[in-house]
Amino acid sequence: WVAPTLSLVLGYLLGSIPFGVILTRLAGAGDLRTIGSGNIGATNVLRTGRKGLAAATLLLDLAKGAVAVLLVDRLFPGNAPLAAAGAFLGHCYPVWLGFRGGKGVAILMGIVLALHWPLGLVFAVVWLGLLAGLRISSVAGMAAAVSAPVGAALLGRFDLVLLLLALALIVLWKHRENVARLLSGTEPRIGRSRG
Ligand code: G3P
Repeated sequence: WVAPTLSLVLGYLLGSIPFGVILTRLAGAGDLRTIGSGNIGATNVLRTGRKGLAAATLLLDLAKGAVAVLLVDRLFPGNAPLAAAGAFLGHCYPVWLGFRGGKGVAILMGIVLALHWPLGLVFAVVWLGLLAGLRISSVAGMAAAVSAPVGAALLGRFDLVLLLLALALIVLWKHRENVARLLSGTEPRIGRSRG
């Protein structure tokens, strides 16, 4: 039980680093949790008007998921899925921020890329395609998250389906306020400021 526990804890610690909050604060742009949607992800960093900072948040949030999976795969072979679950939960429910974390899209992309890169590619294509087409971050993120378990099933990776389905459901749950805004037609598009 030592290796599984360490994998979960190591994943959680890496995933719980709130890069969006840290970078925004370091850049002197205030507390991200009081800006825009209050979310700690790259989309909300973009609402500070700092594109470079948003890109860095996206990449670092993605990287921490990938690093957790790849590191644990080396240290404790066979425990990568536990590291993935730990990292994802760390990002969405970080102890350091009173368990109020992000919505899980960027970190899930990193996790999926590290677990099975073709699935990660599908995730990235769905995300980027919808983002470019609709410019609504939440829709792109939710669709990409759902593409992961569906893609895993289609590619015959049934070992990953349950984990990715659970993580996709958490992504949807975390976007419940976005869904309400989408239904009422008030969800902002990327590149426009939120009231
Ligand atoms: O990944 C988060 C994104 O899908 C939505 O972010 O700030 O618009 O709620 P936000």
